[in-house]
Amino acid sequence: MTVSVDSTTSTTENQSAPVSTSAPASAAAPAGEAEALRPHAEHAFAAELAALAAQDDRPRPARWRLSPWAVATYLLGGTLPDGTVISPKYVGPRRIVEVAVTTLATDRALLLLGVPGTAKTWVSEHLAAAVSGDSTLLVQGTAGTPEEAIRYGWNYAQLLAHGPSRDALVPSPVMRAMADGMTARVEELTRIPADVQDTLITILSEKTLPIPELGQEVQAVRGFNLIATANNRDRGVNDLSSALRRRFNTVVLPLPETAEAEVEIVSRRVDQIGRSLDLPSGPEGIDEIRRVVTVFRELRDGVTADGRTKVKSPSGTLSTAEAISVVTNGLALAAHFGDGVLRPGDVAAGILGAVVRDPAADRVIWQEYLEAVVRERDGWKDFYRACREVSA
Ligand SMILES: Nc1ncnc2c1ncn2[C@@H]1O[C@H](COP(=O)(O)OP(=O)(O)OP(=O)(O)O)[C@@H](O)[C@H]1O
Ligand SMILES: [Mg+2]
Repeated sequence: MTVSVDSTTSTTENQSAPVSTSAPASAAAPAGEAEALRPHAEHAFAAELAALAAQDDRPRPARWRLSPWAVATYLLGGTLPDGTVISPKYVGPRRIVEVAVTTLATDRALLLLGVPGTAKTWVSEHLAAAVSGDSTLLVQGTAGTPEEAIRYGWNYAQLLAHGPSRDALVPSPVMRAMADGMTARVEELTRIPADVQDTLITILSEKTLPIPELGQEVQAVRGFNLIATANNRDRGVNDLSSALRRRFNTVVLPLPETAEAEVEIVSRRVDQIGRSLDLPSGPEGIDEIRRVVTVFRELRDGVTADGRTKVKSPSGTLSTAEAISVVTNGLALAAHFGDGVLRPGDVAAGILGAVVRDPAADRVIWQEYLEAVVRERDGWKDFYRACREVSA
């Protein structure tokens, strides 16, 4: 027997639903959203999404809020015919975004793969927000993720009182996405134990989720798809079984190709985060941002920007995401203990913390880089001194 569930009602009835306490997103931000430290993408960019939907006359796949073209424009930015400016969320090759969006319109799920800090989570959230208007149907993968987090659980009070029934069932975000034809998200898929991962095979190939206890199933409605993220650097993770991998189209998100692109990503995000934390950020900070990005890229690549000097790479990933947090911390230091302008002394400690993960080997690498590269570079005297001070 196939039943149609209205997942929204079943979660409201099951007040104890453990999976997600956030209400399904509506077009308007719910009360209190304005105060949220980090609003969901569909709320933070509600105006852009509405403008895109209003001017988008291309065909939309079933239950999509926007056409694939408009989703790609939402991610990459652009200017609409009426002059509305859509800010870029993802800075990177257009083709990658096009392939990712197109995958969601097919019967294959999307796997975003890449080293840490390459915006996998960020892209997945924005894709779900643009396609389904709701990025909150999310399962966070951990070593302890149980099958119930992907399938369904039970409200035990109801179960004991009335036996197994639809009312006693607590749907997972994935089940709700299937029932409503929405986009589900699974974060850090490869951290999930292999047998639990395999729960996804039936969902992705048969598009159904059996409920043997009730002799029922939930069939995915058109519009349902799933975005998983996995990072290919962390050790000790469970590999994807080849059976599961075949159900996904894999899109690898690269590190930013040029220093300029990375500087743009960092300054854009720092500006957004800074605003939400009420930190002043002026254009004066750009030199420091450029410096952080240069140091990170040179250490990551193992060679200086001019290609002349080889340097050793430390054990940390030194990702764009870490550069963003070094600069944000620096801004907070400058705002609270300095004159509000980002200076070398404000980022030096953060850089040291990001570079020196292994106290022995990384420290040596950092000292060598400091003496051989930083010290000799024109205009970097203040930065060299600040680094020496915190390294001592
Ligand atoms: N190419 C990029 N375009 C836009 N933002 C980027 C890009 N690369 C990184 N970022 C920024 O980096 C931050 C971290 O990204 P995110 O958390 O999505 O990384 P991740 O790939 O999921 O990392 P992890 O593997 O650690 O989970 C985000 O704030 C995002 O804006
Ligand atoms: Mg992530």
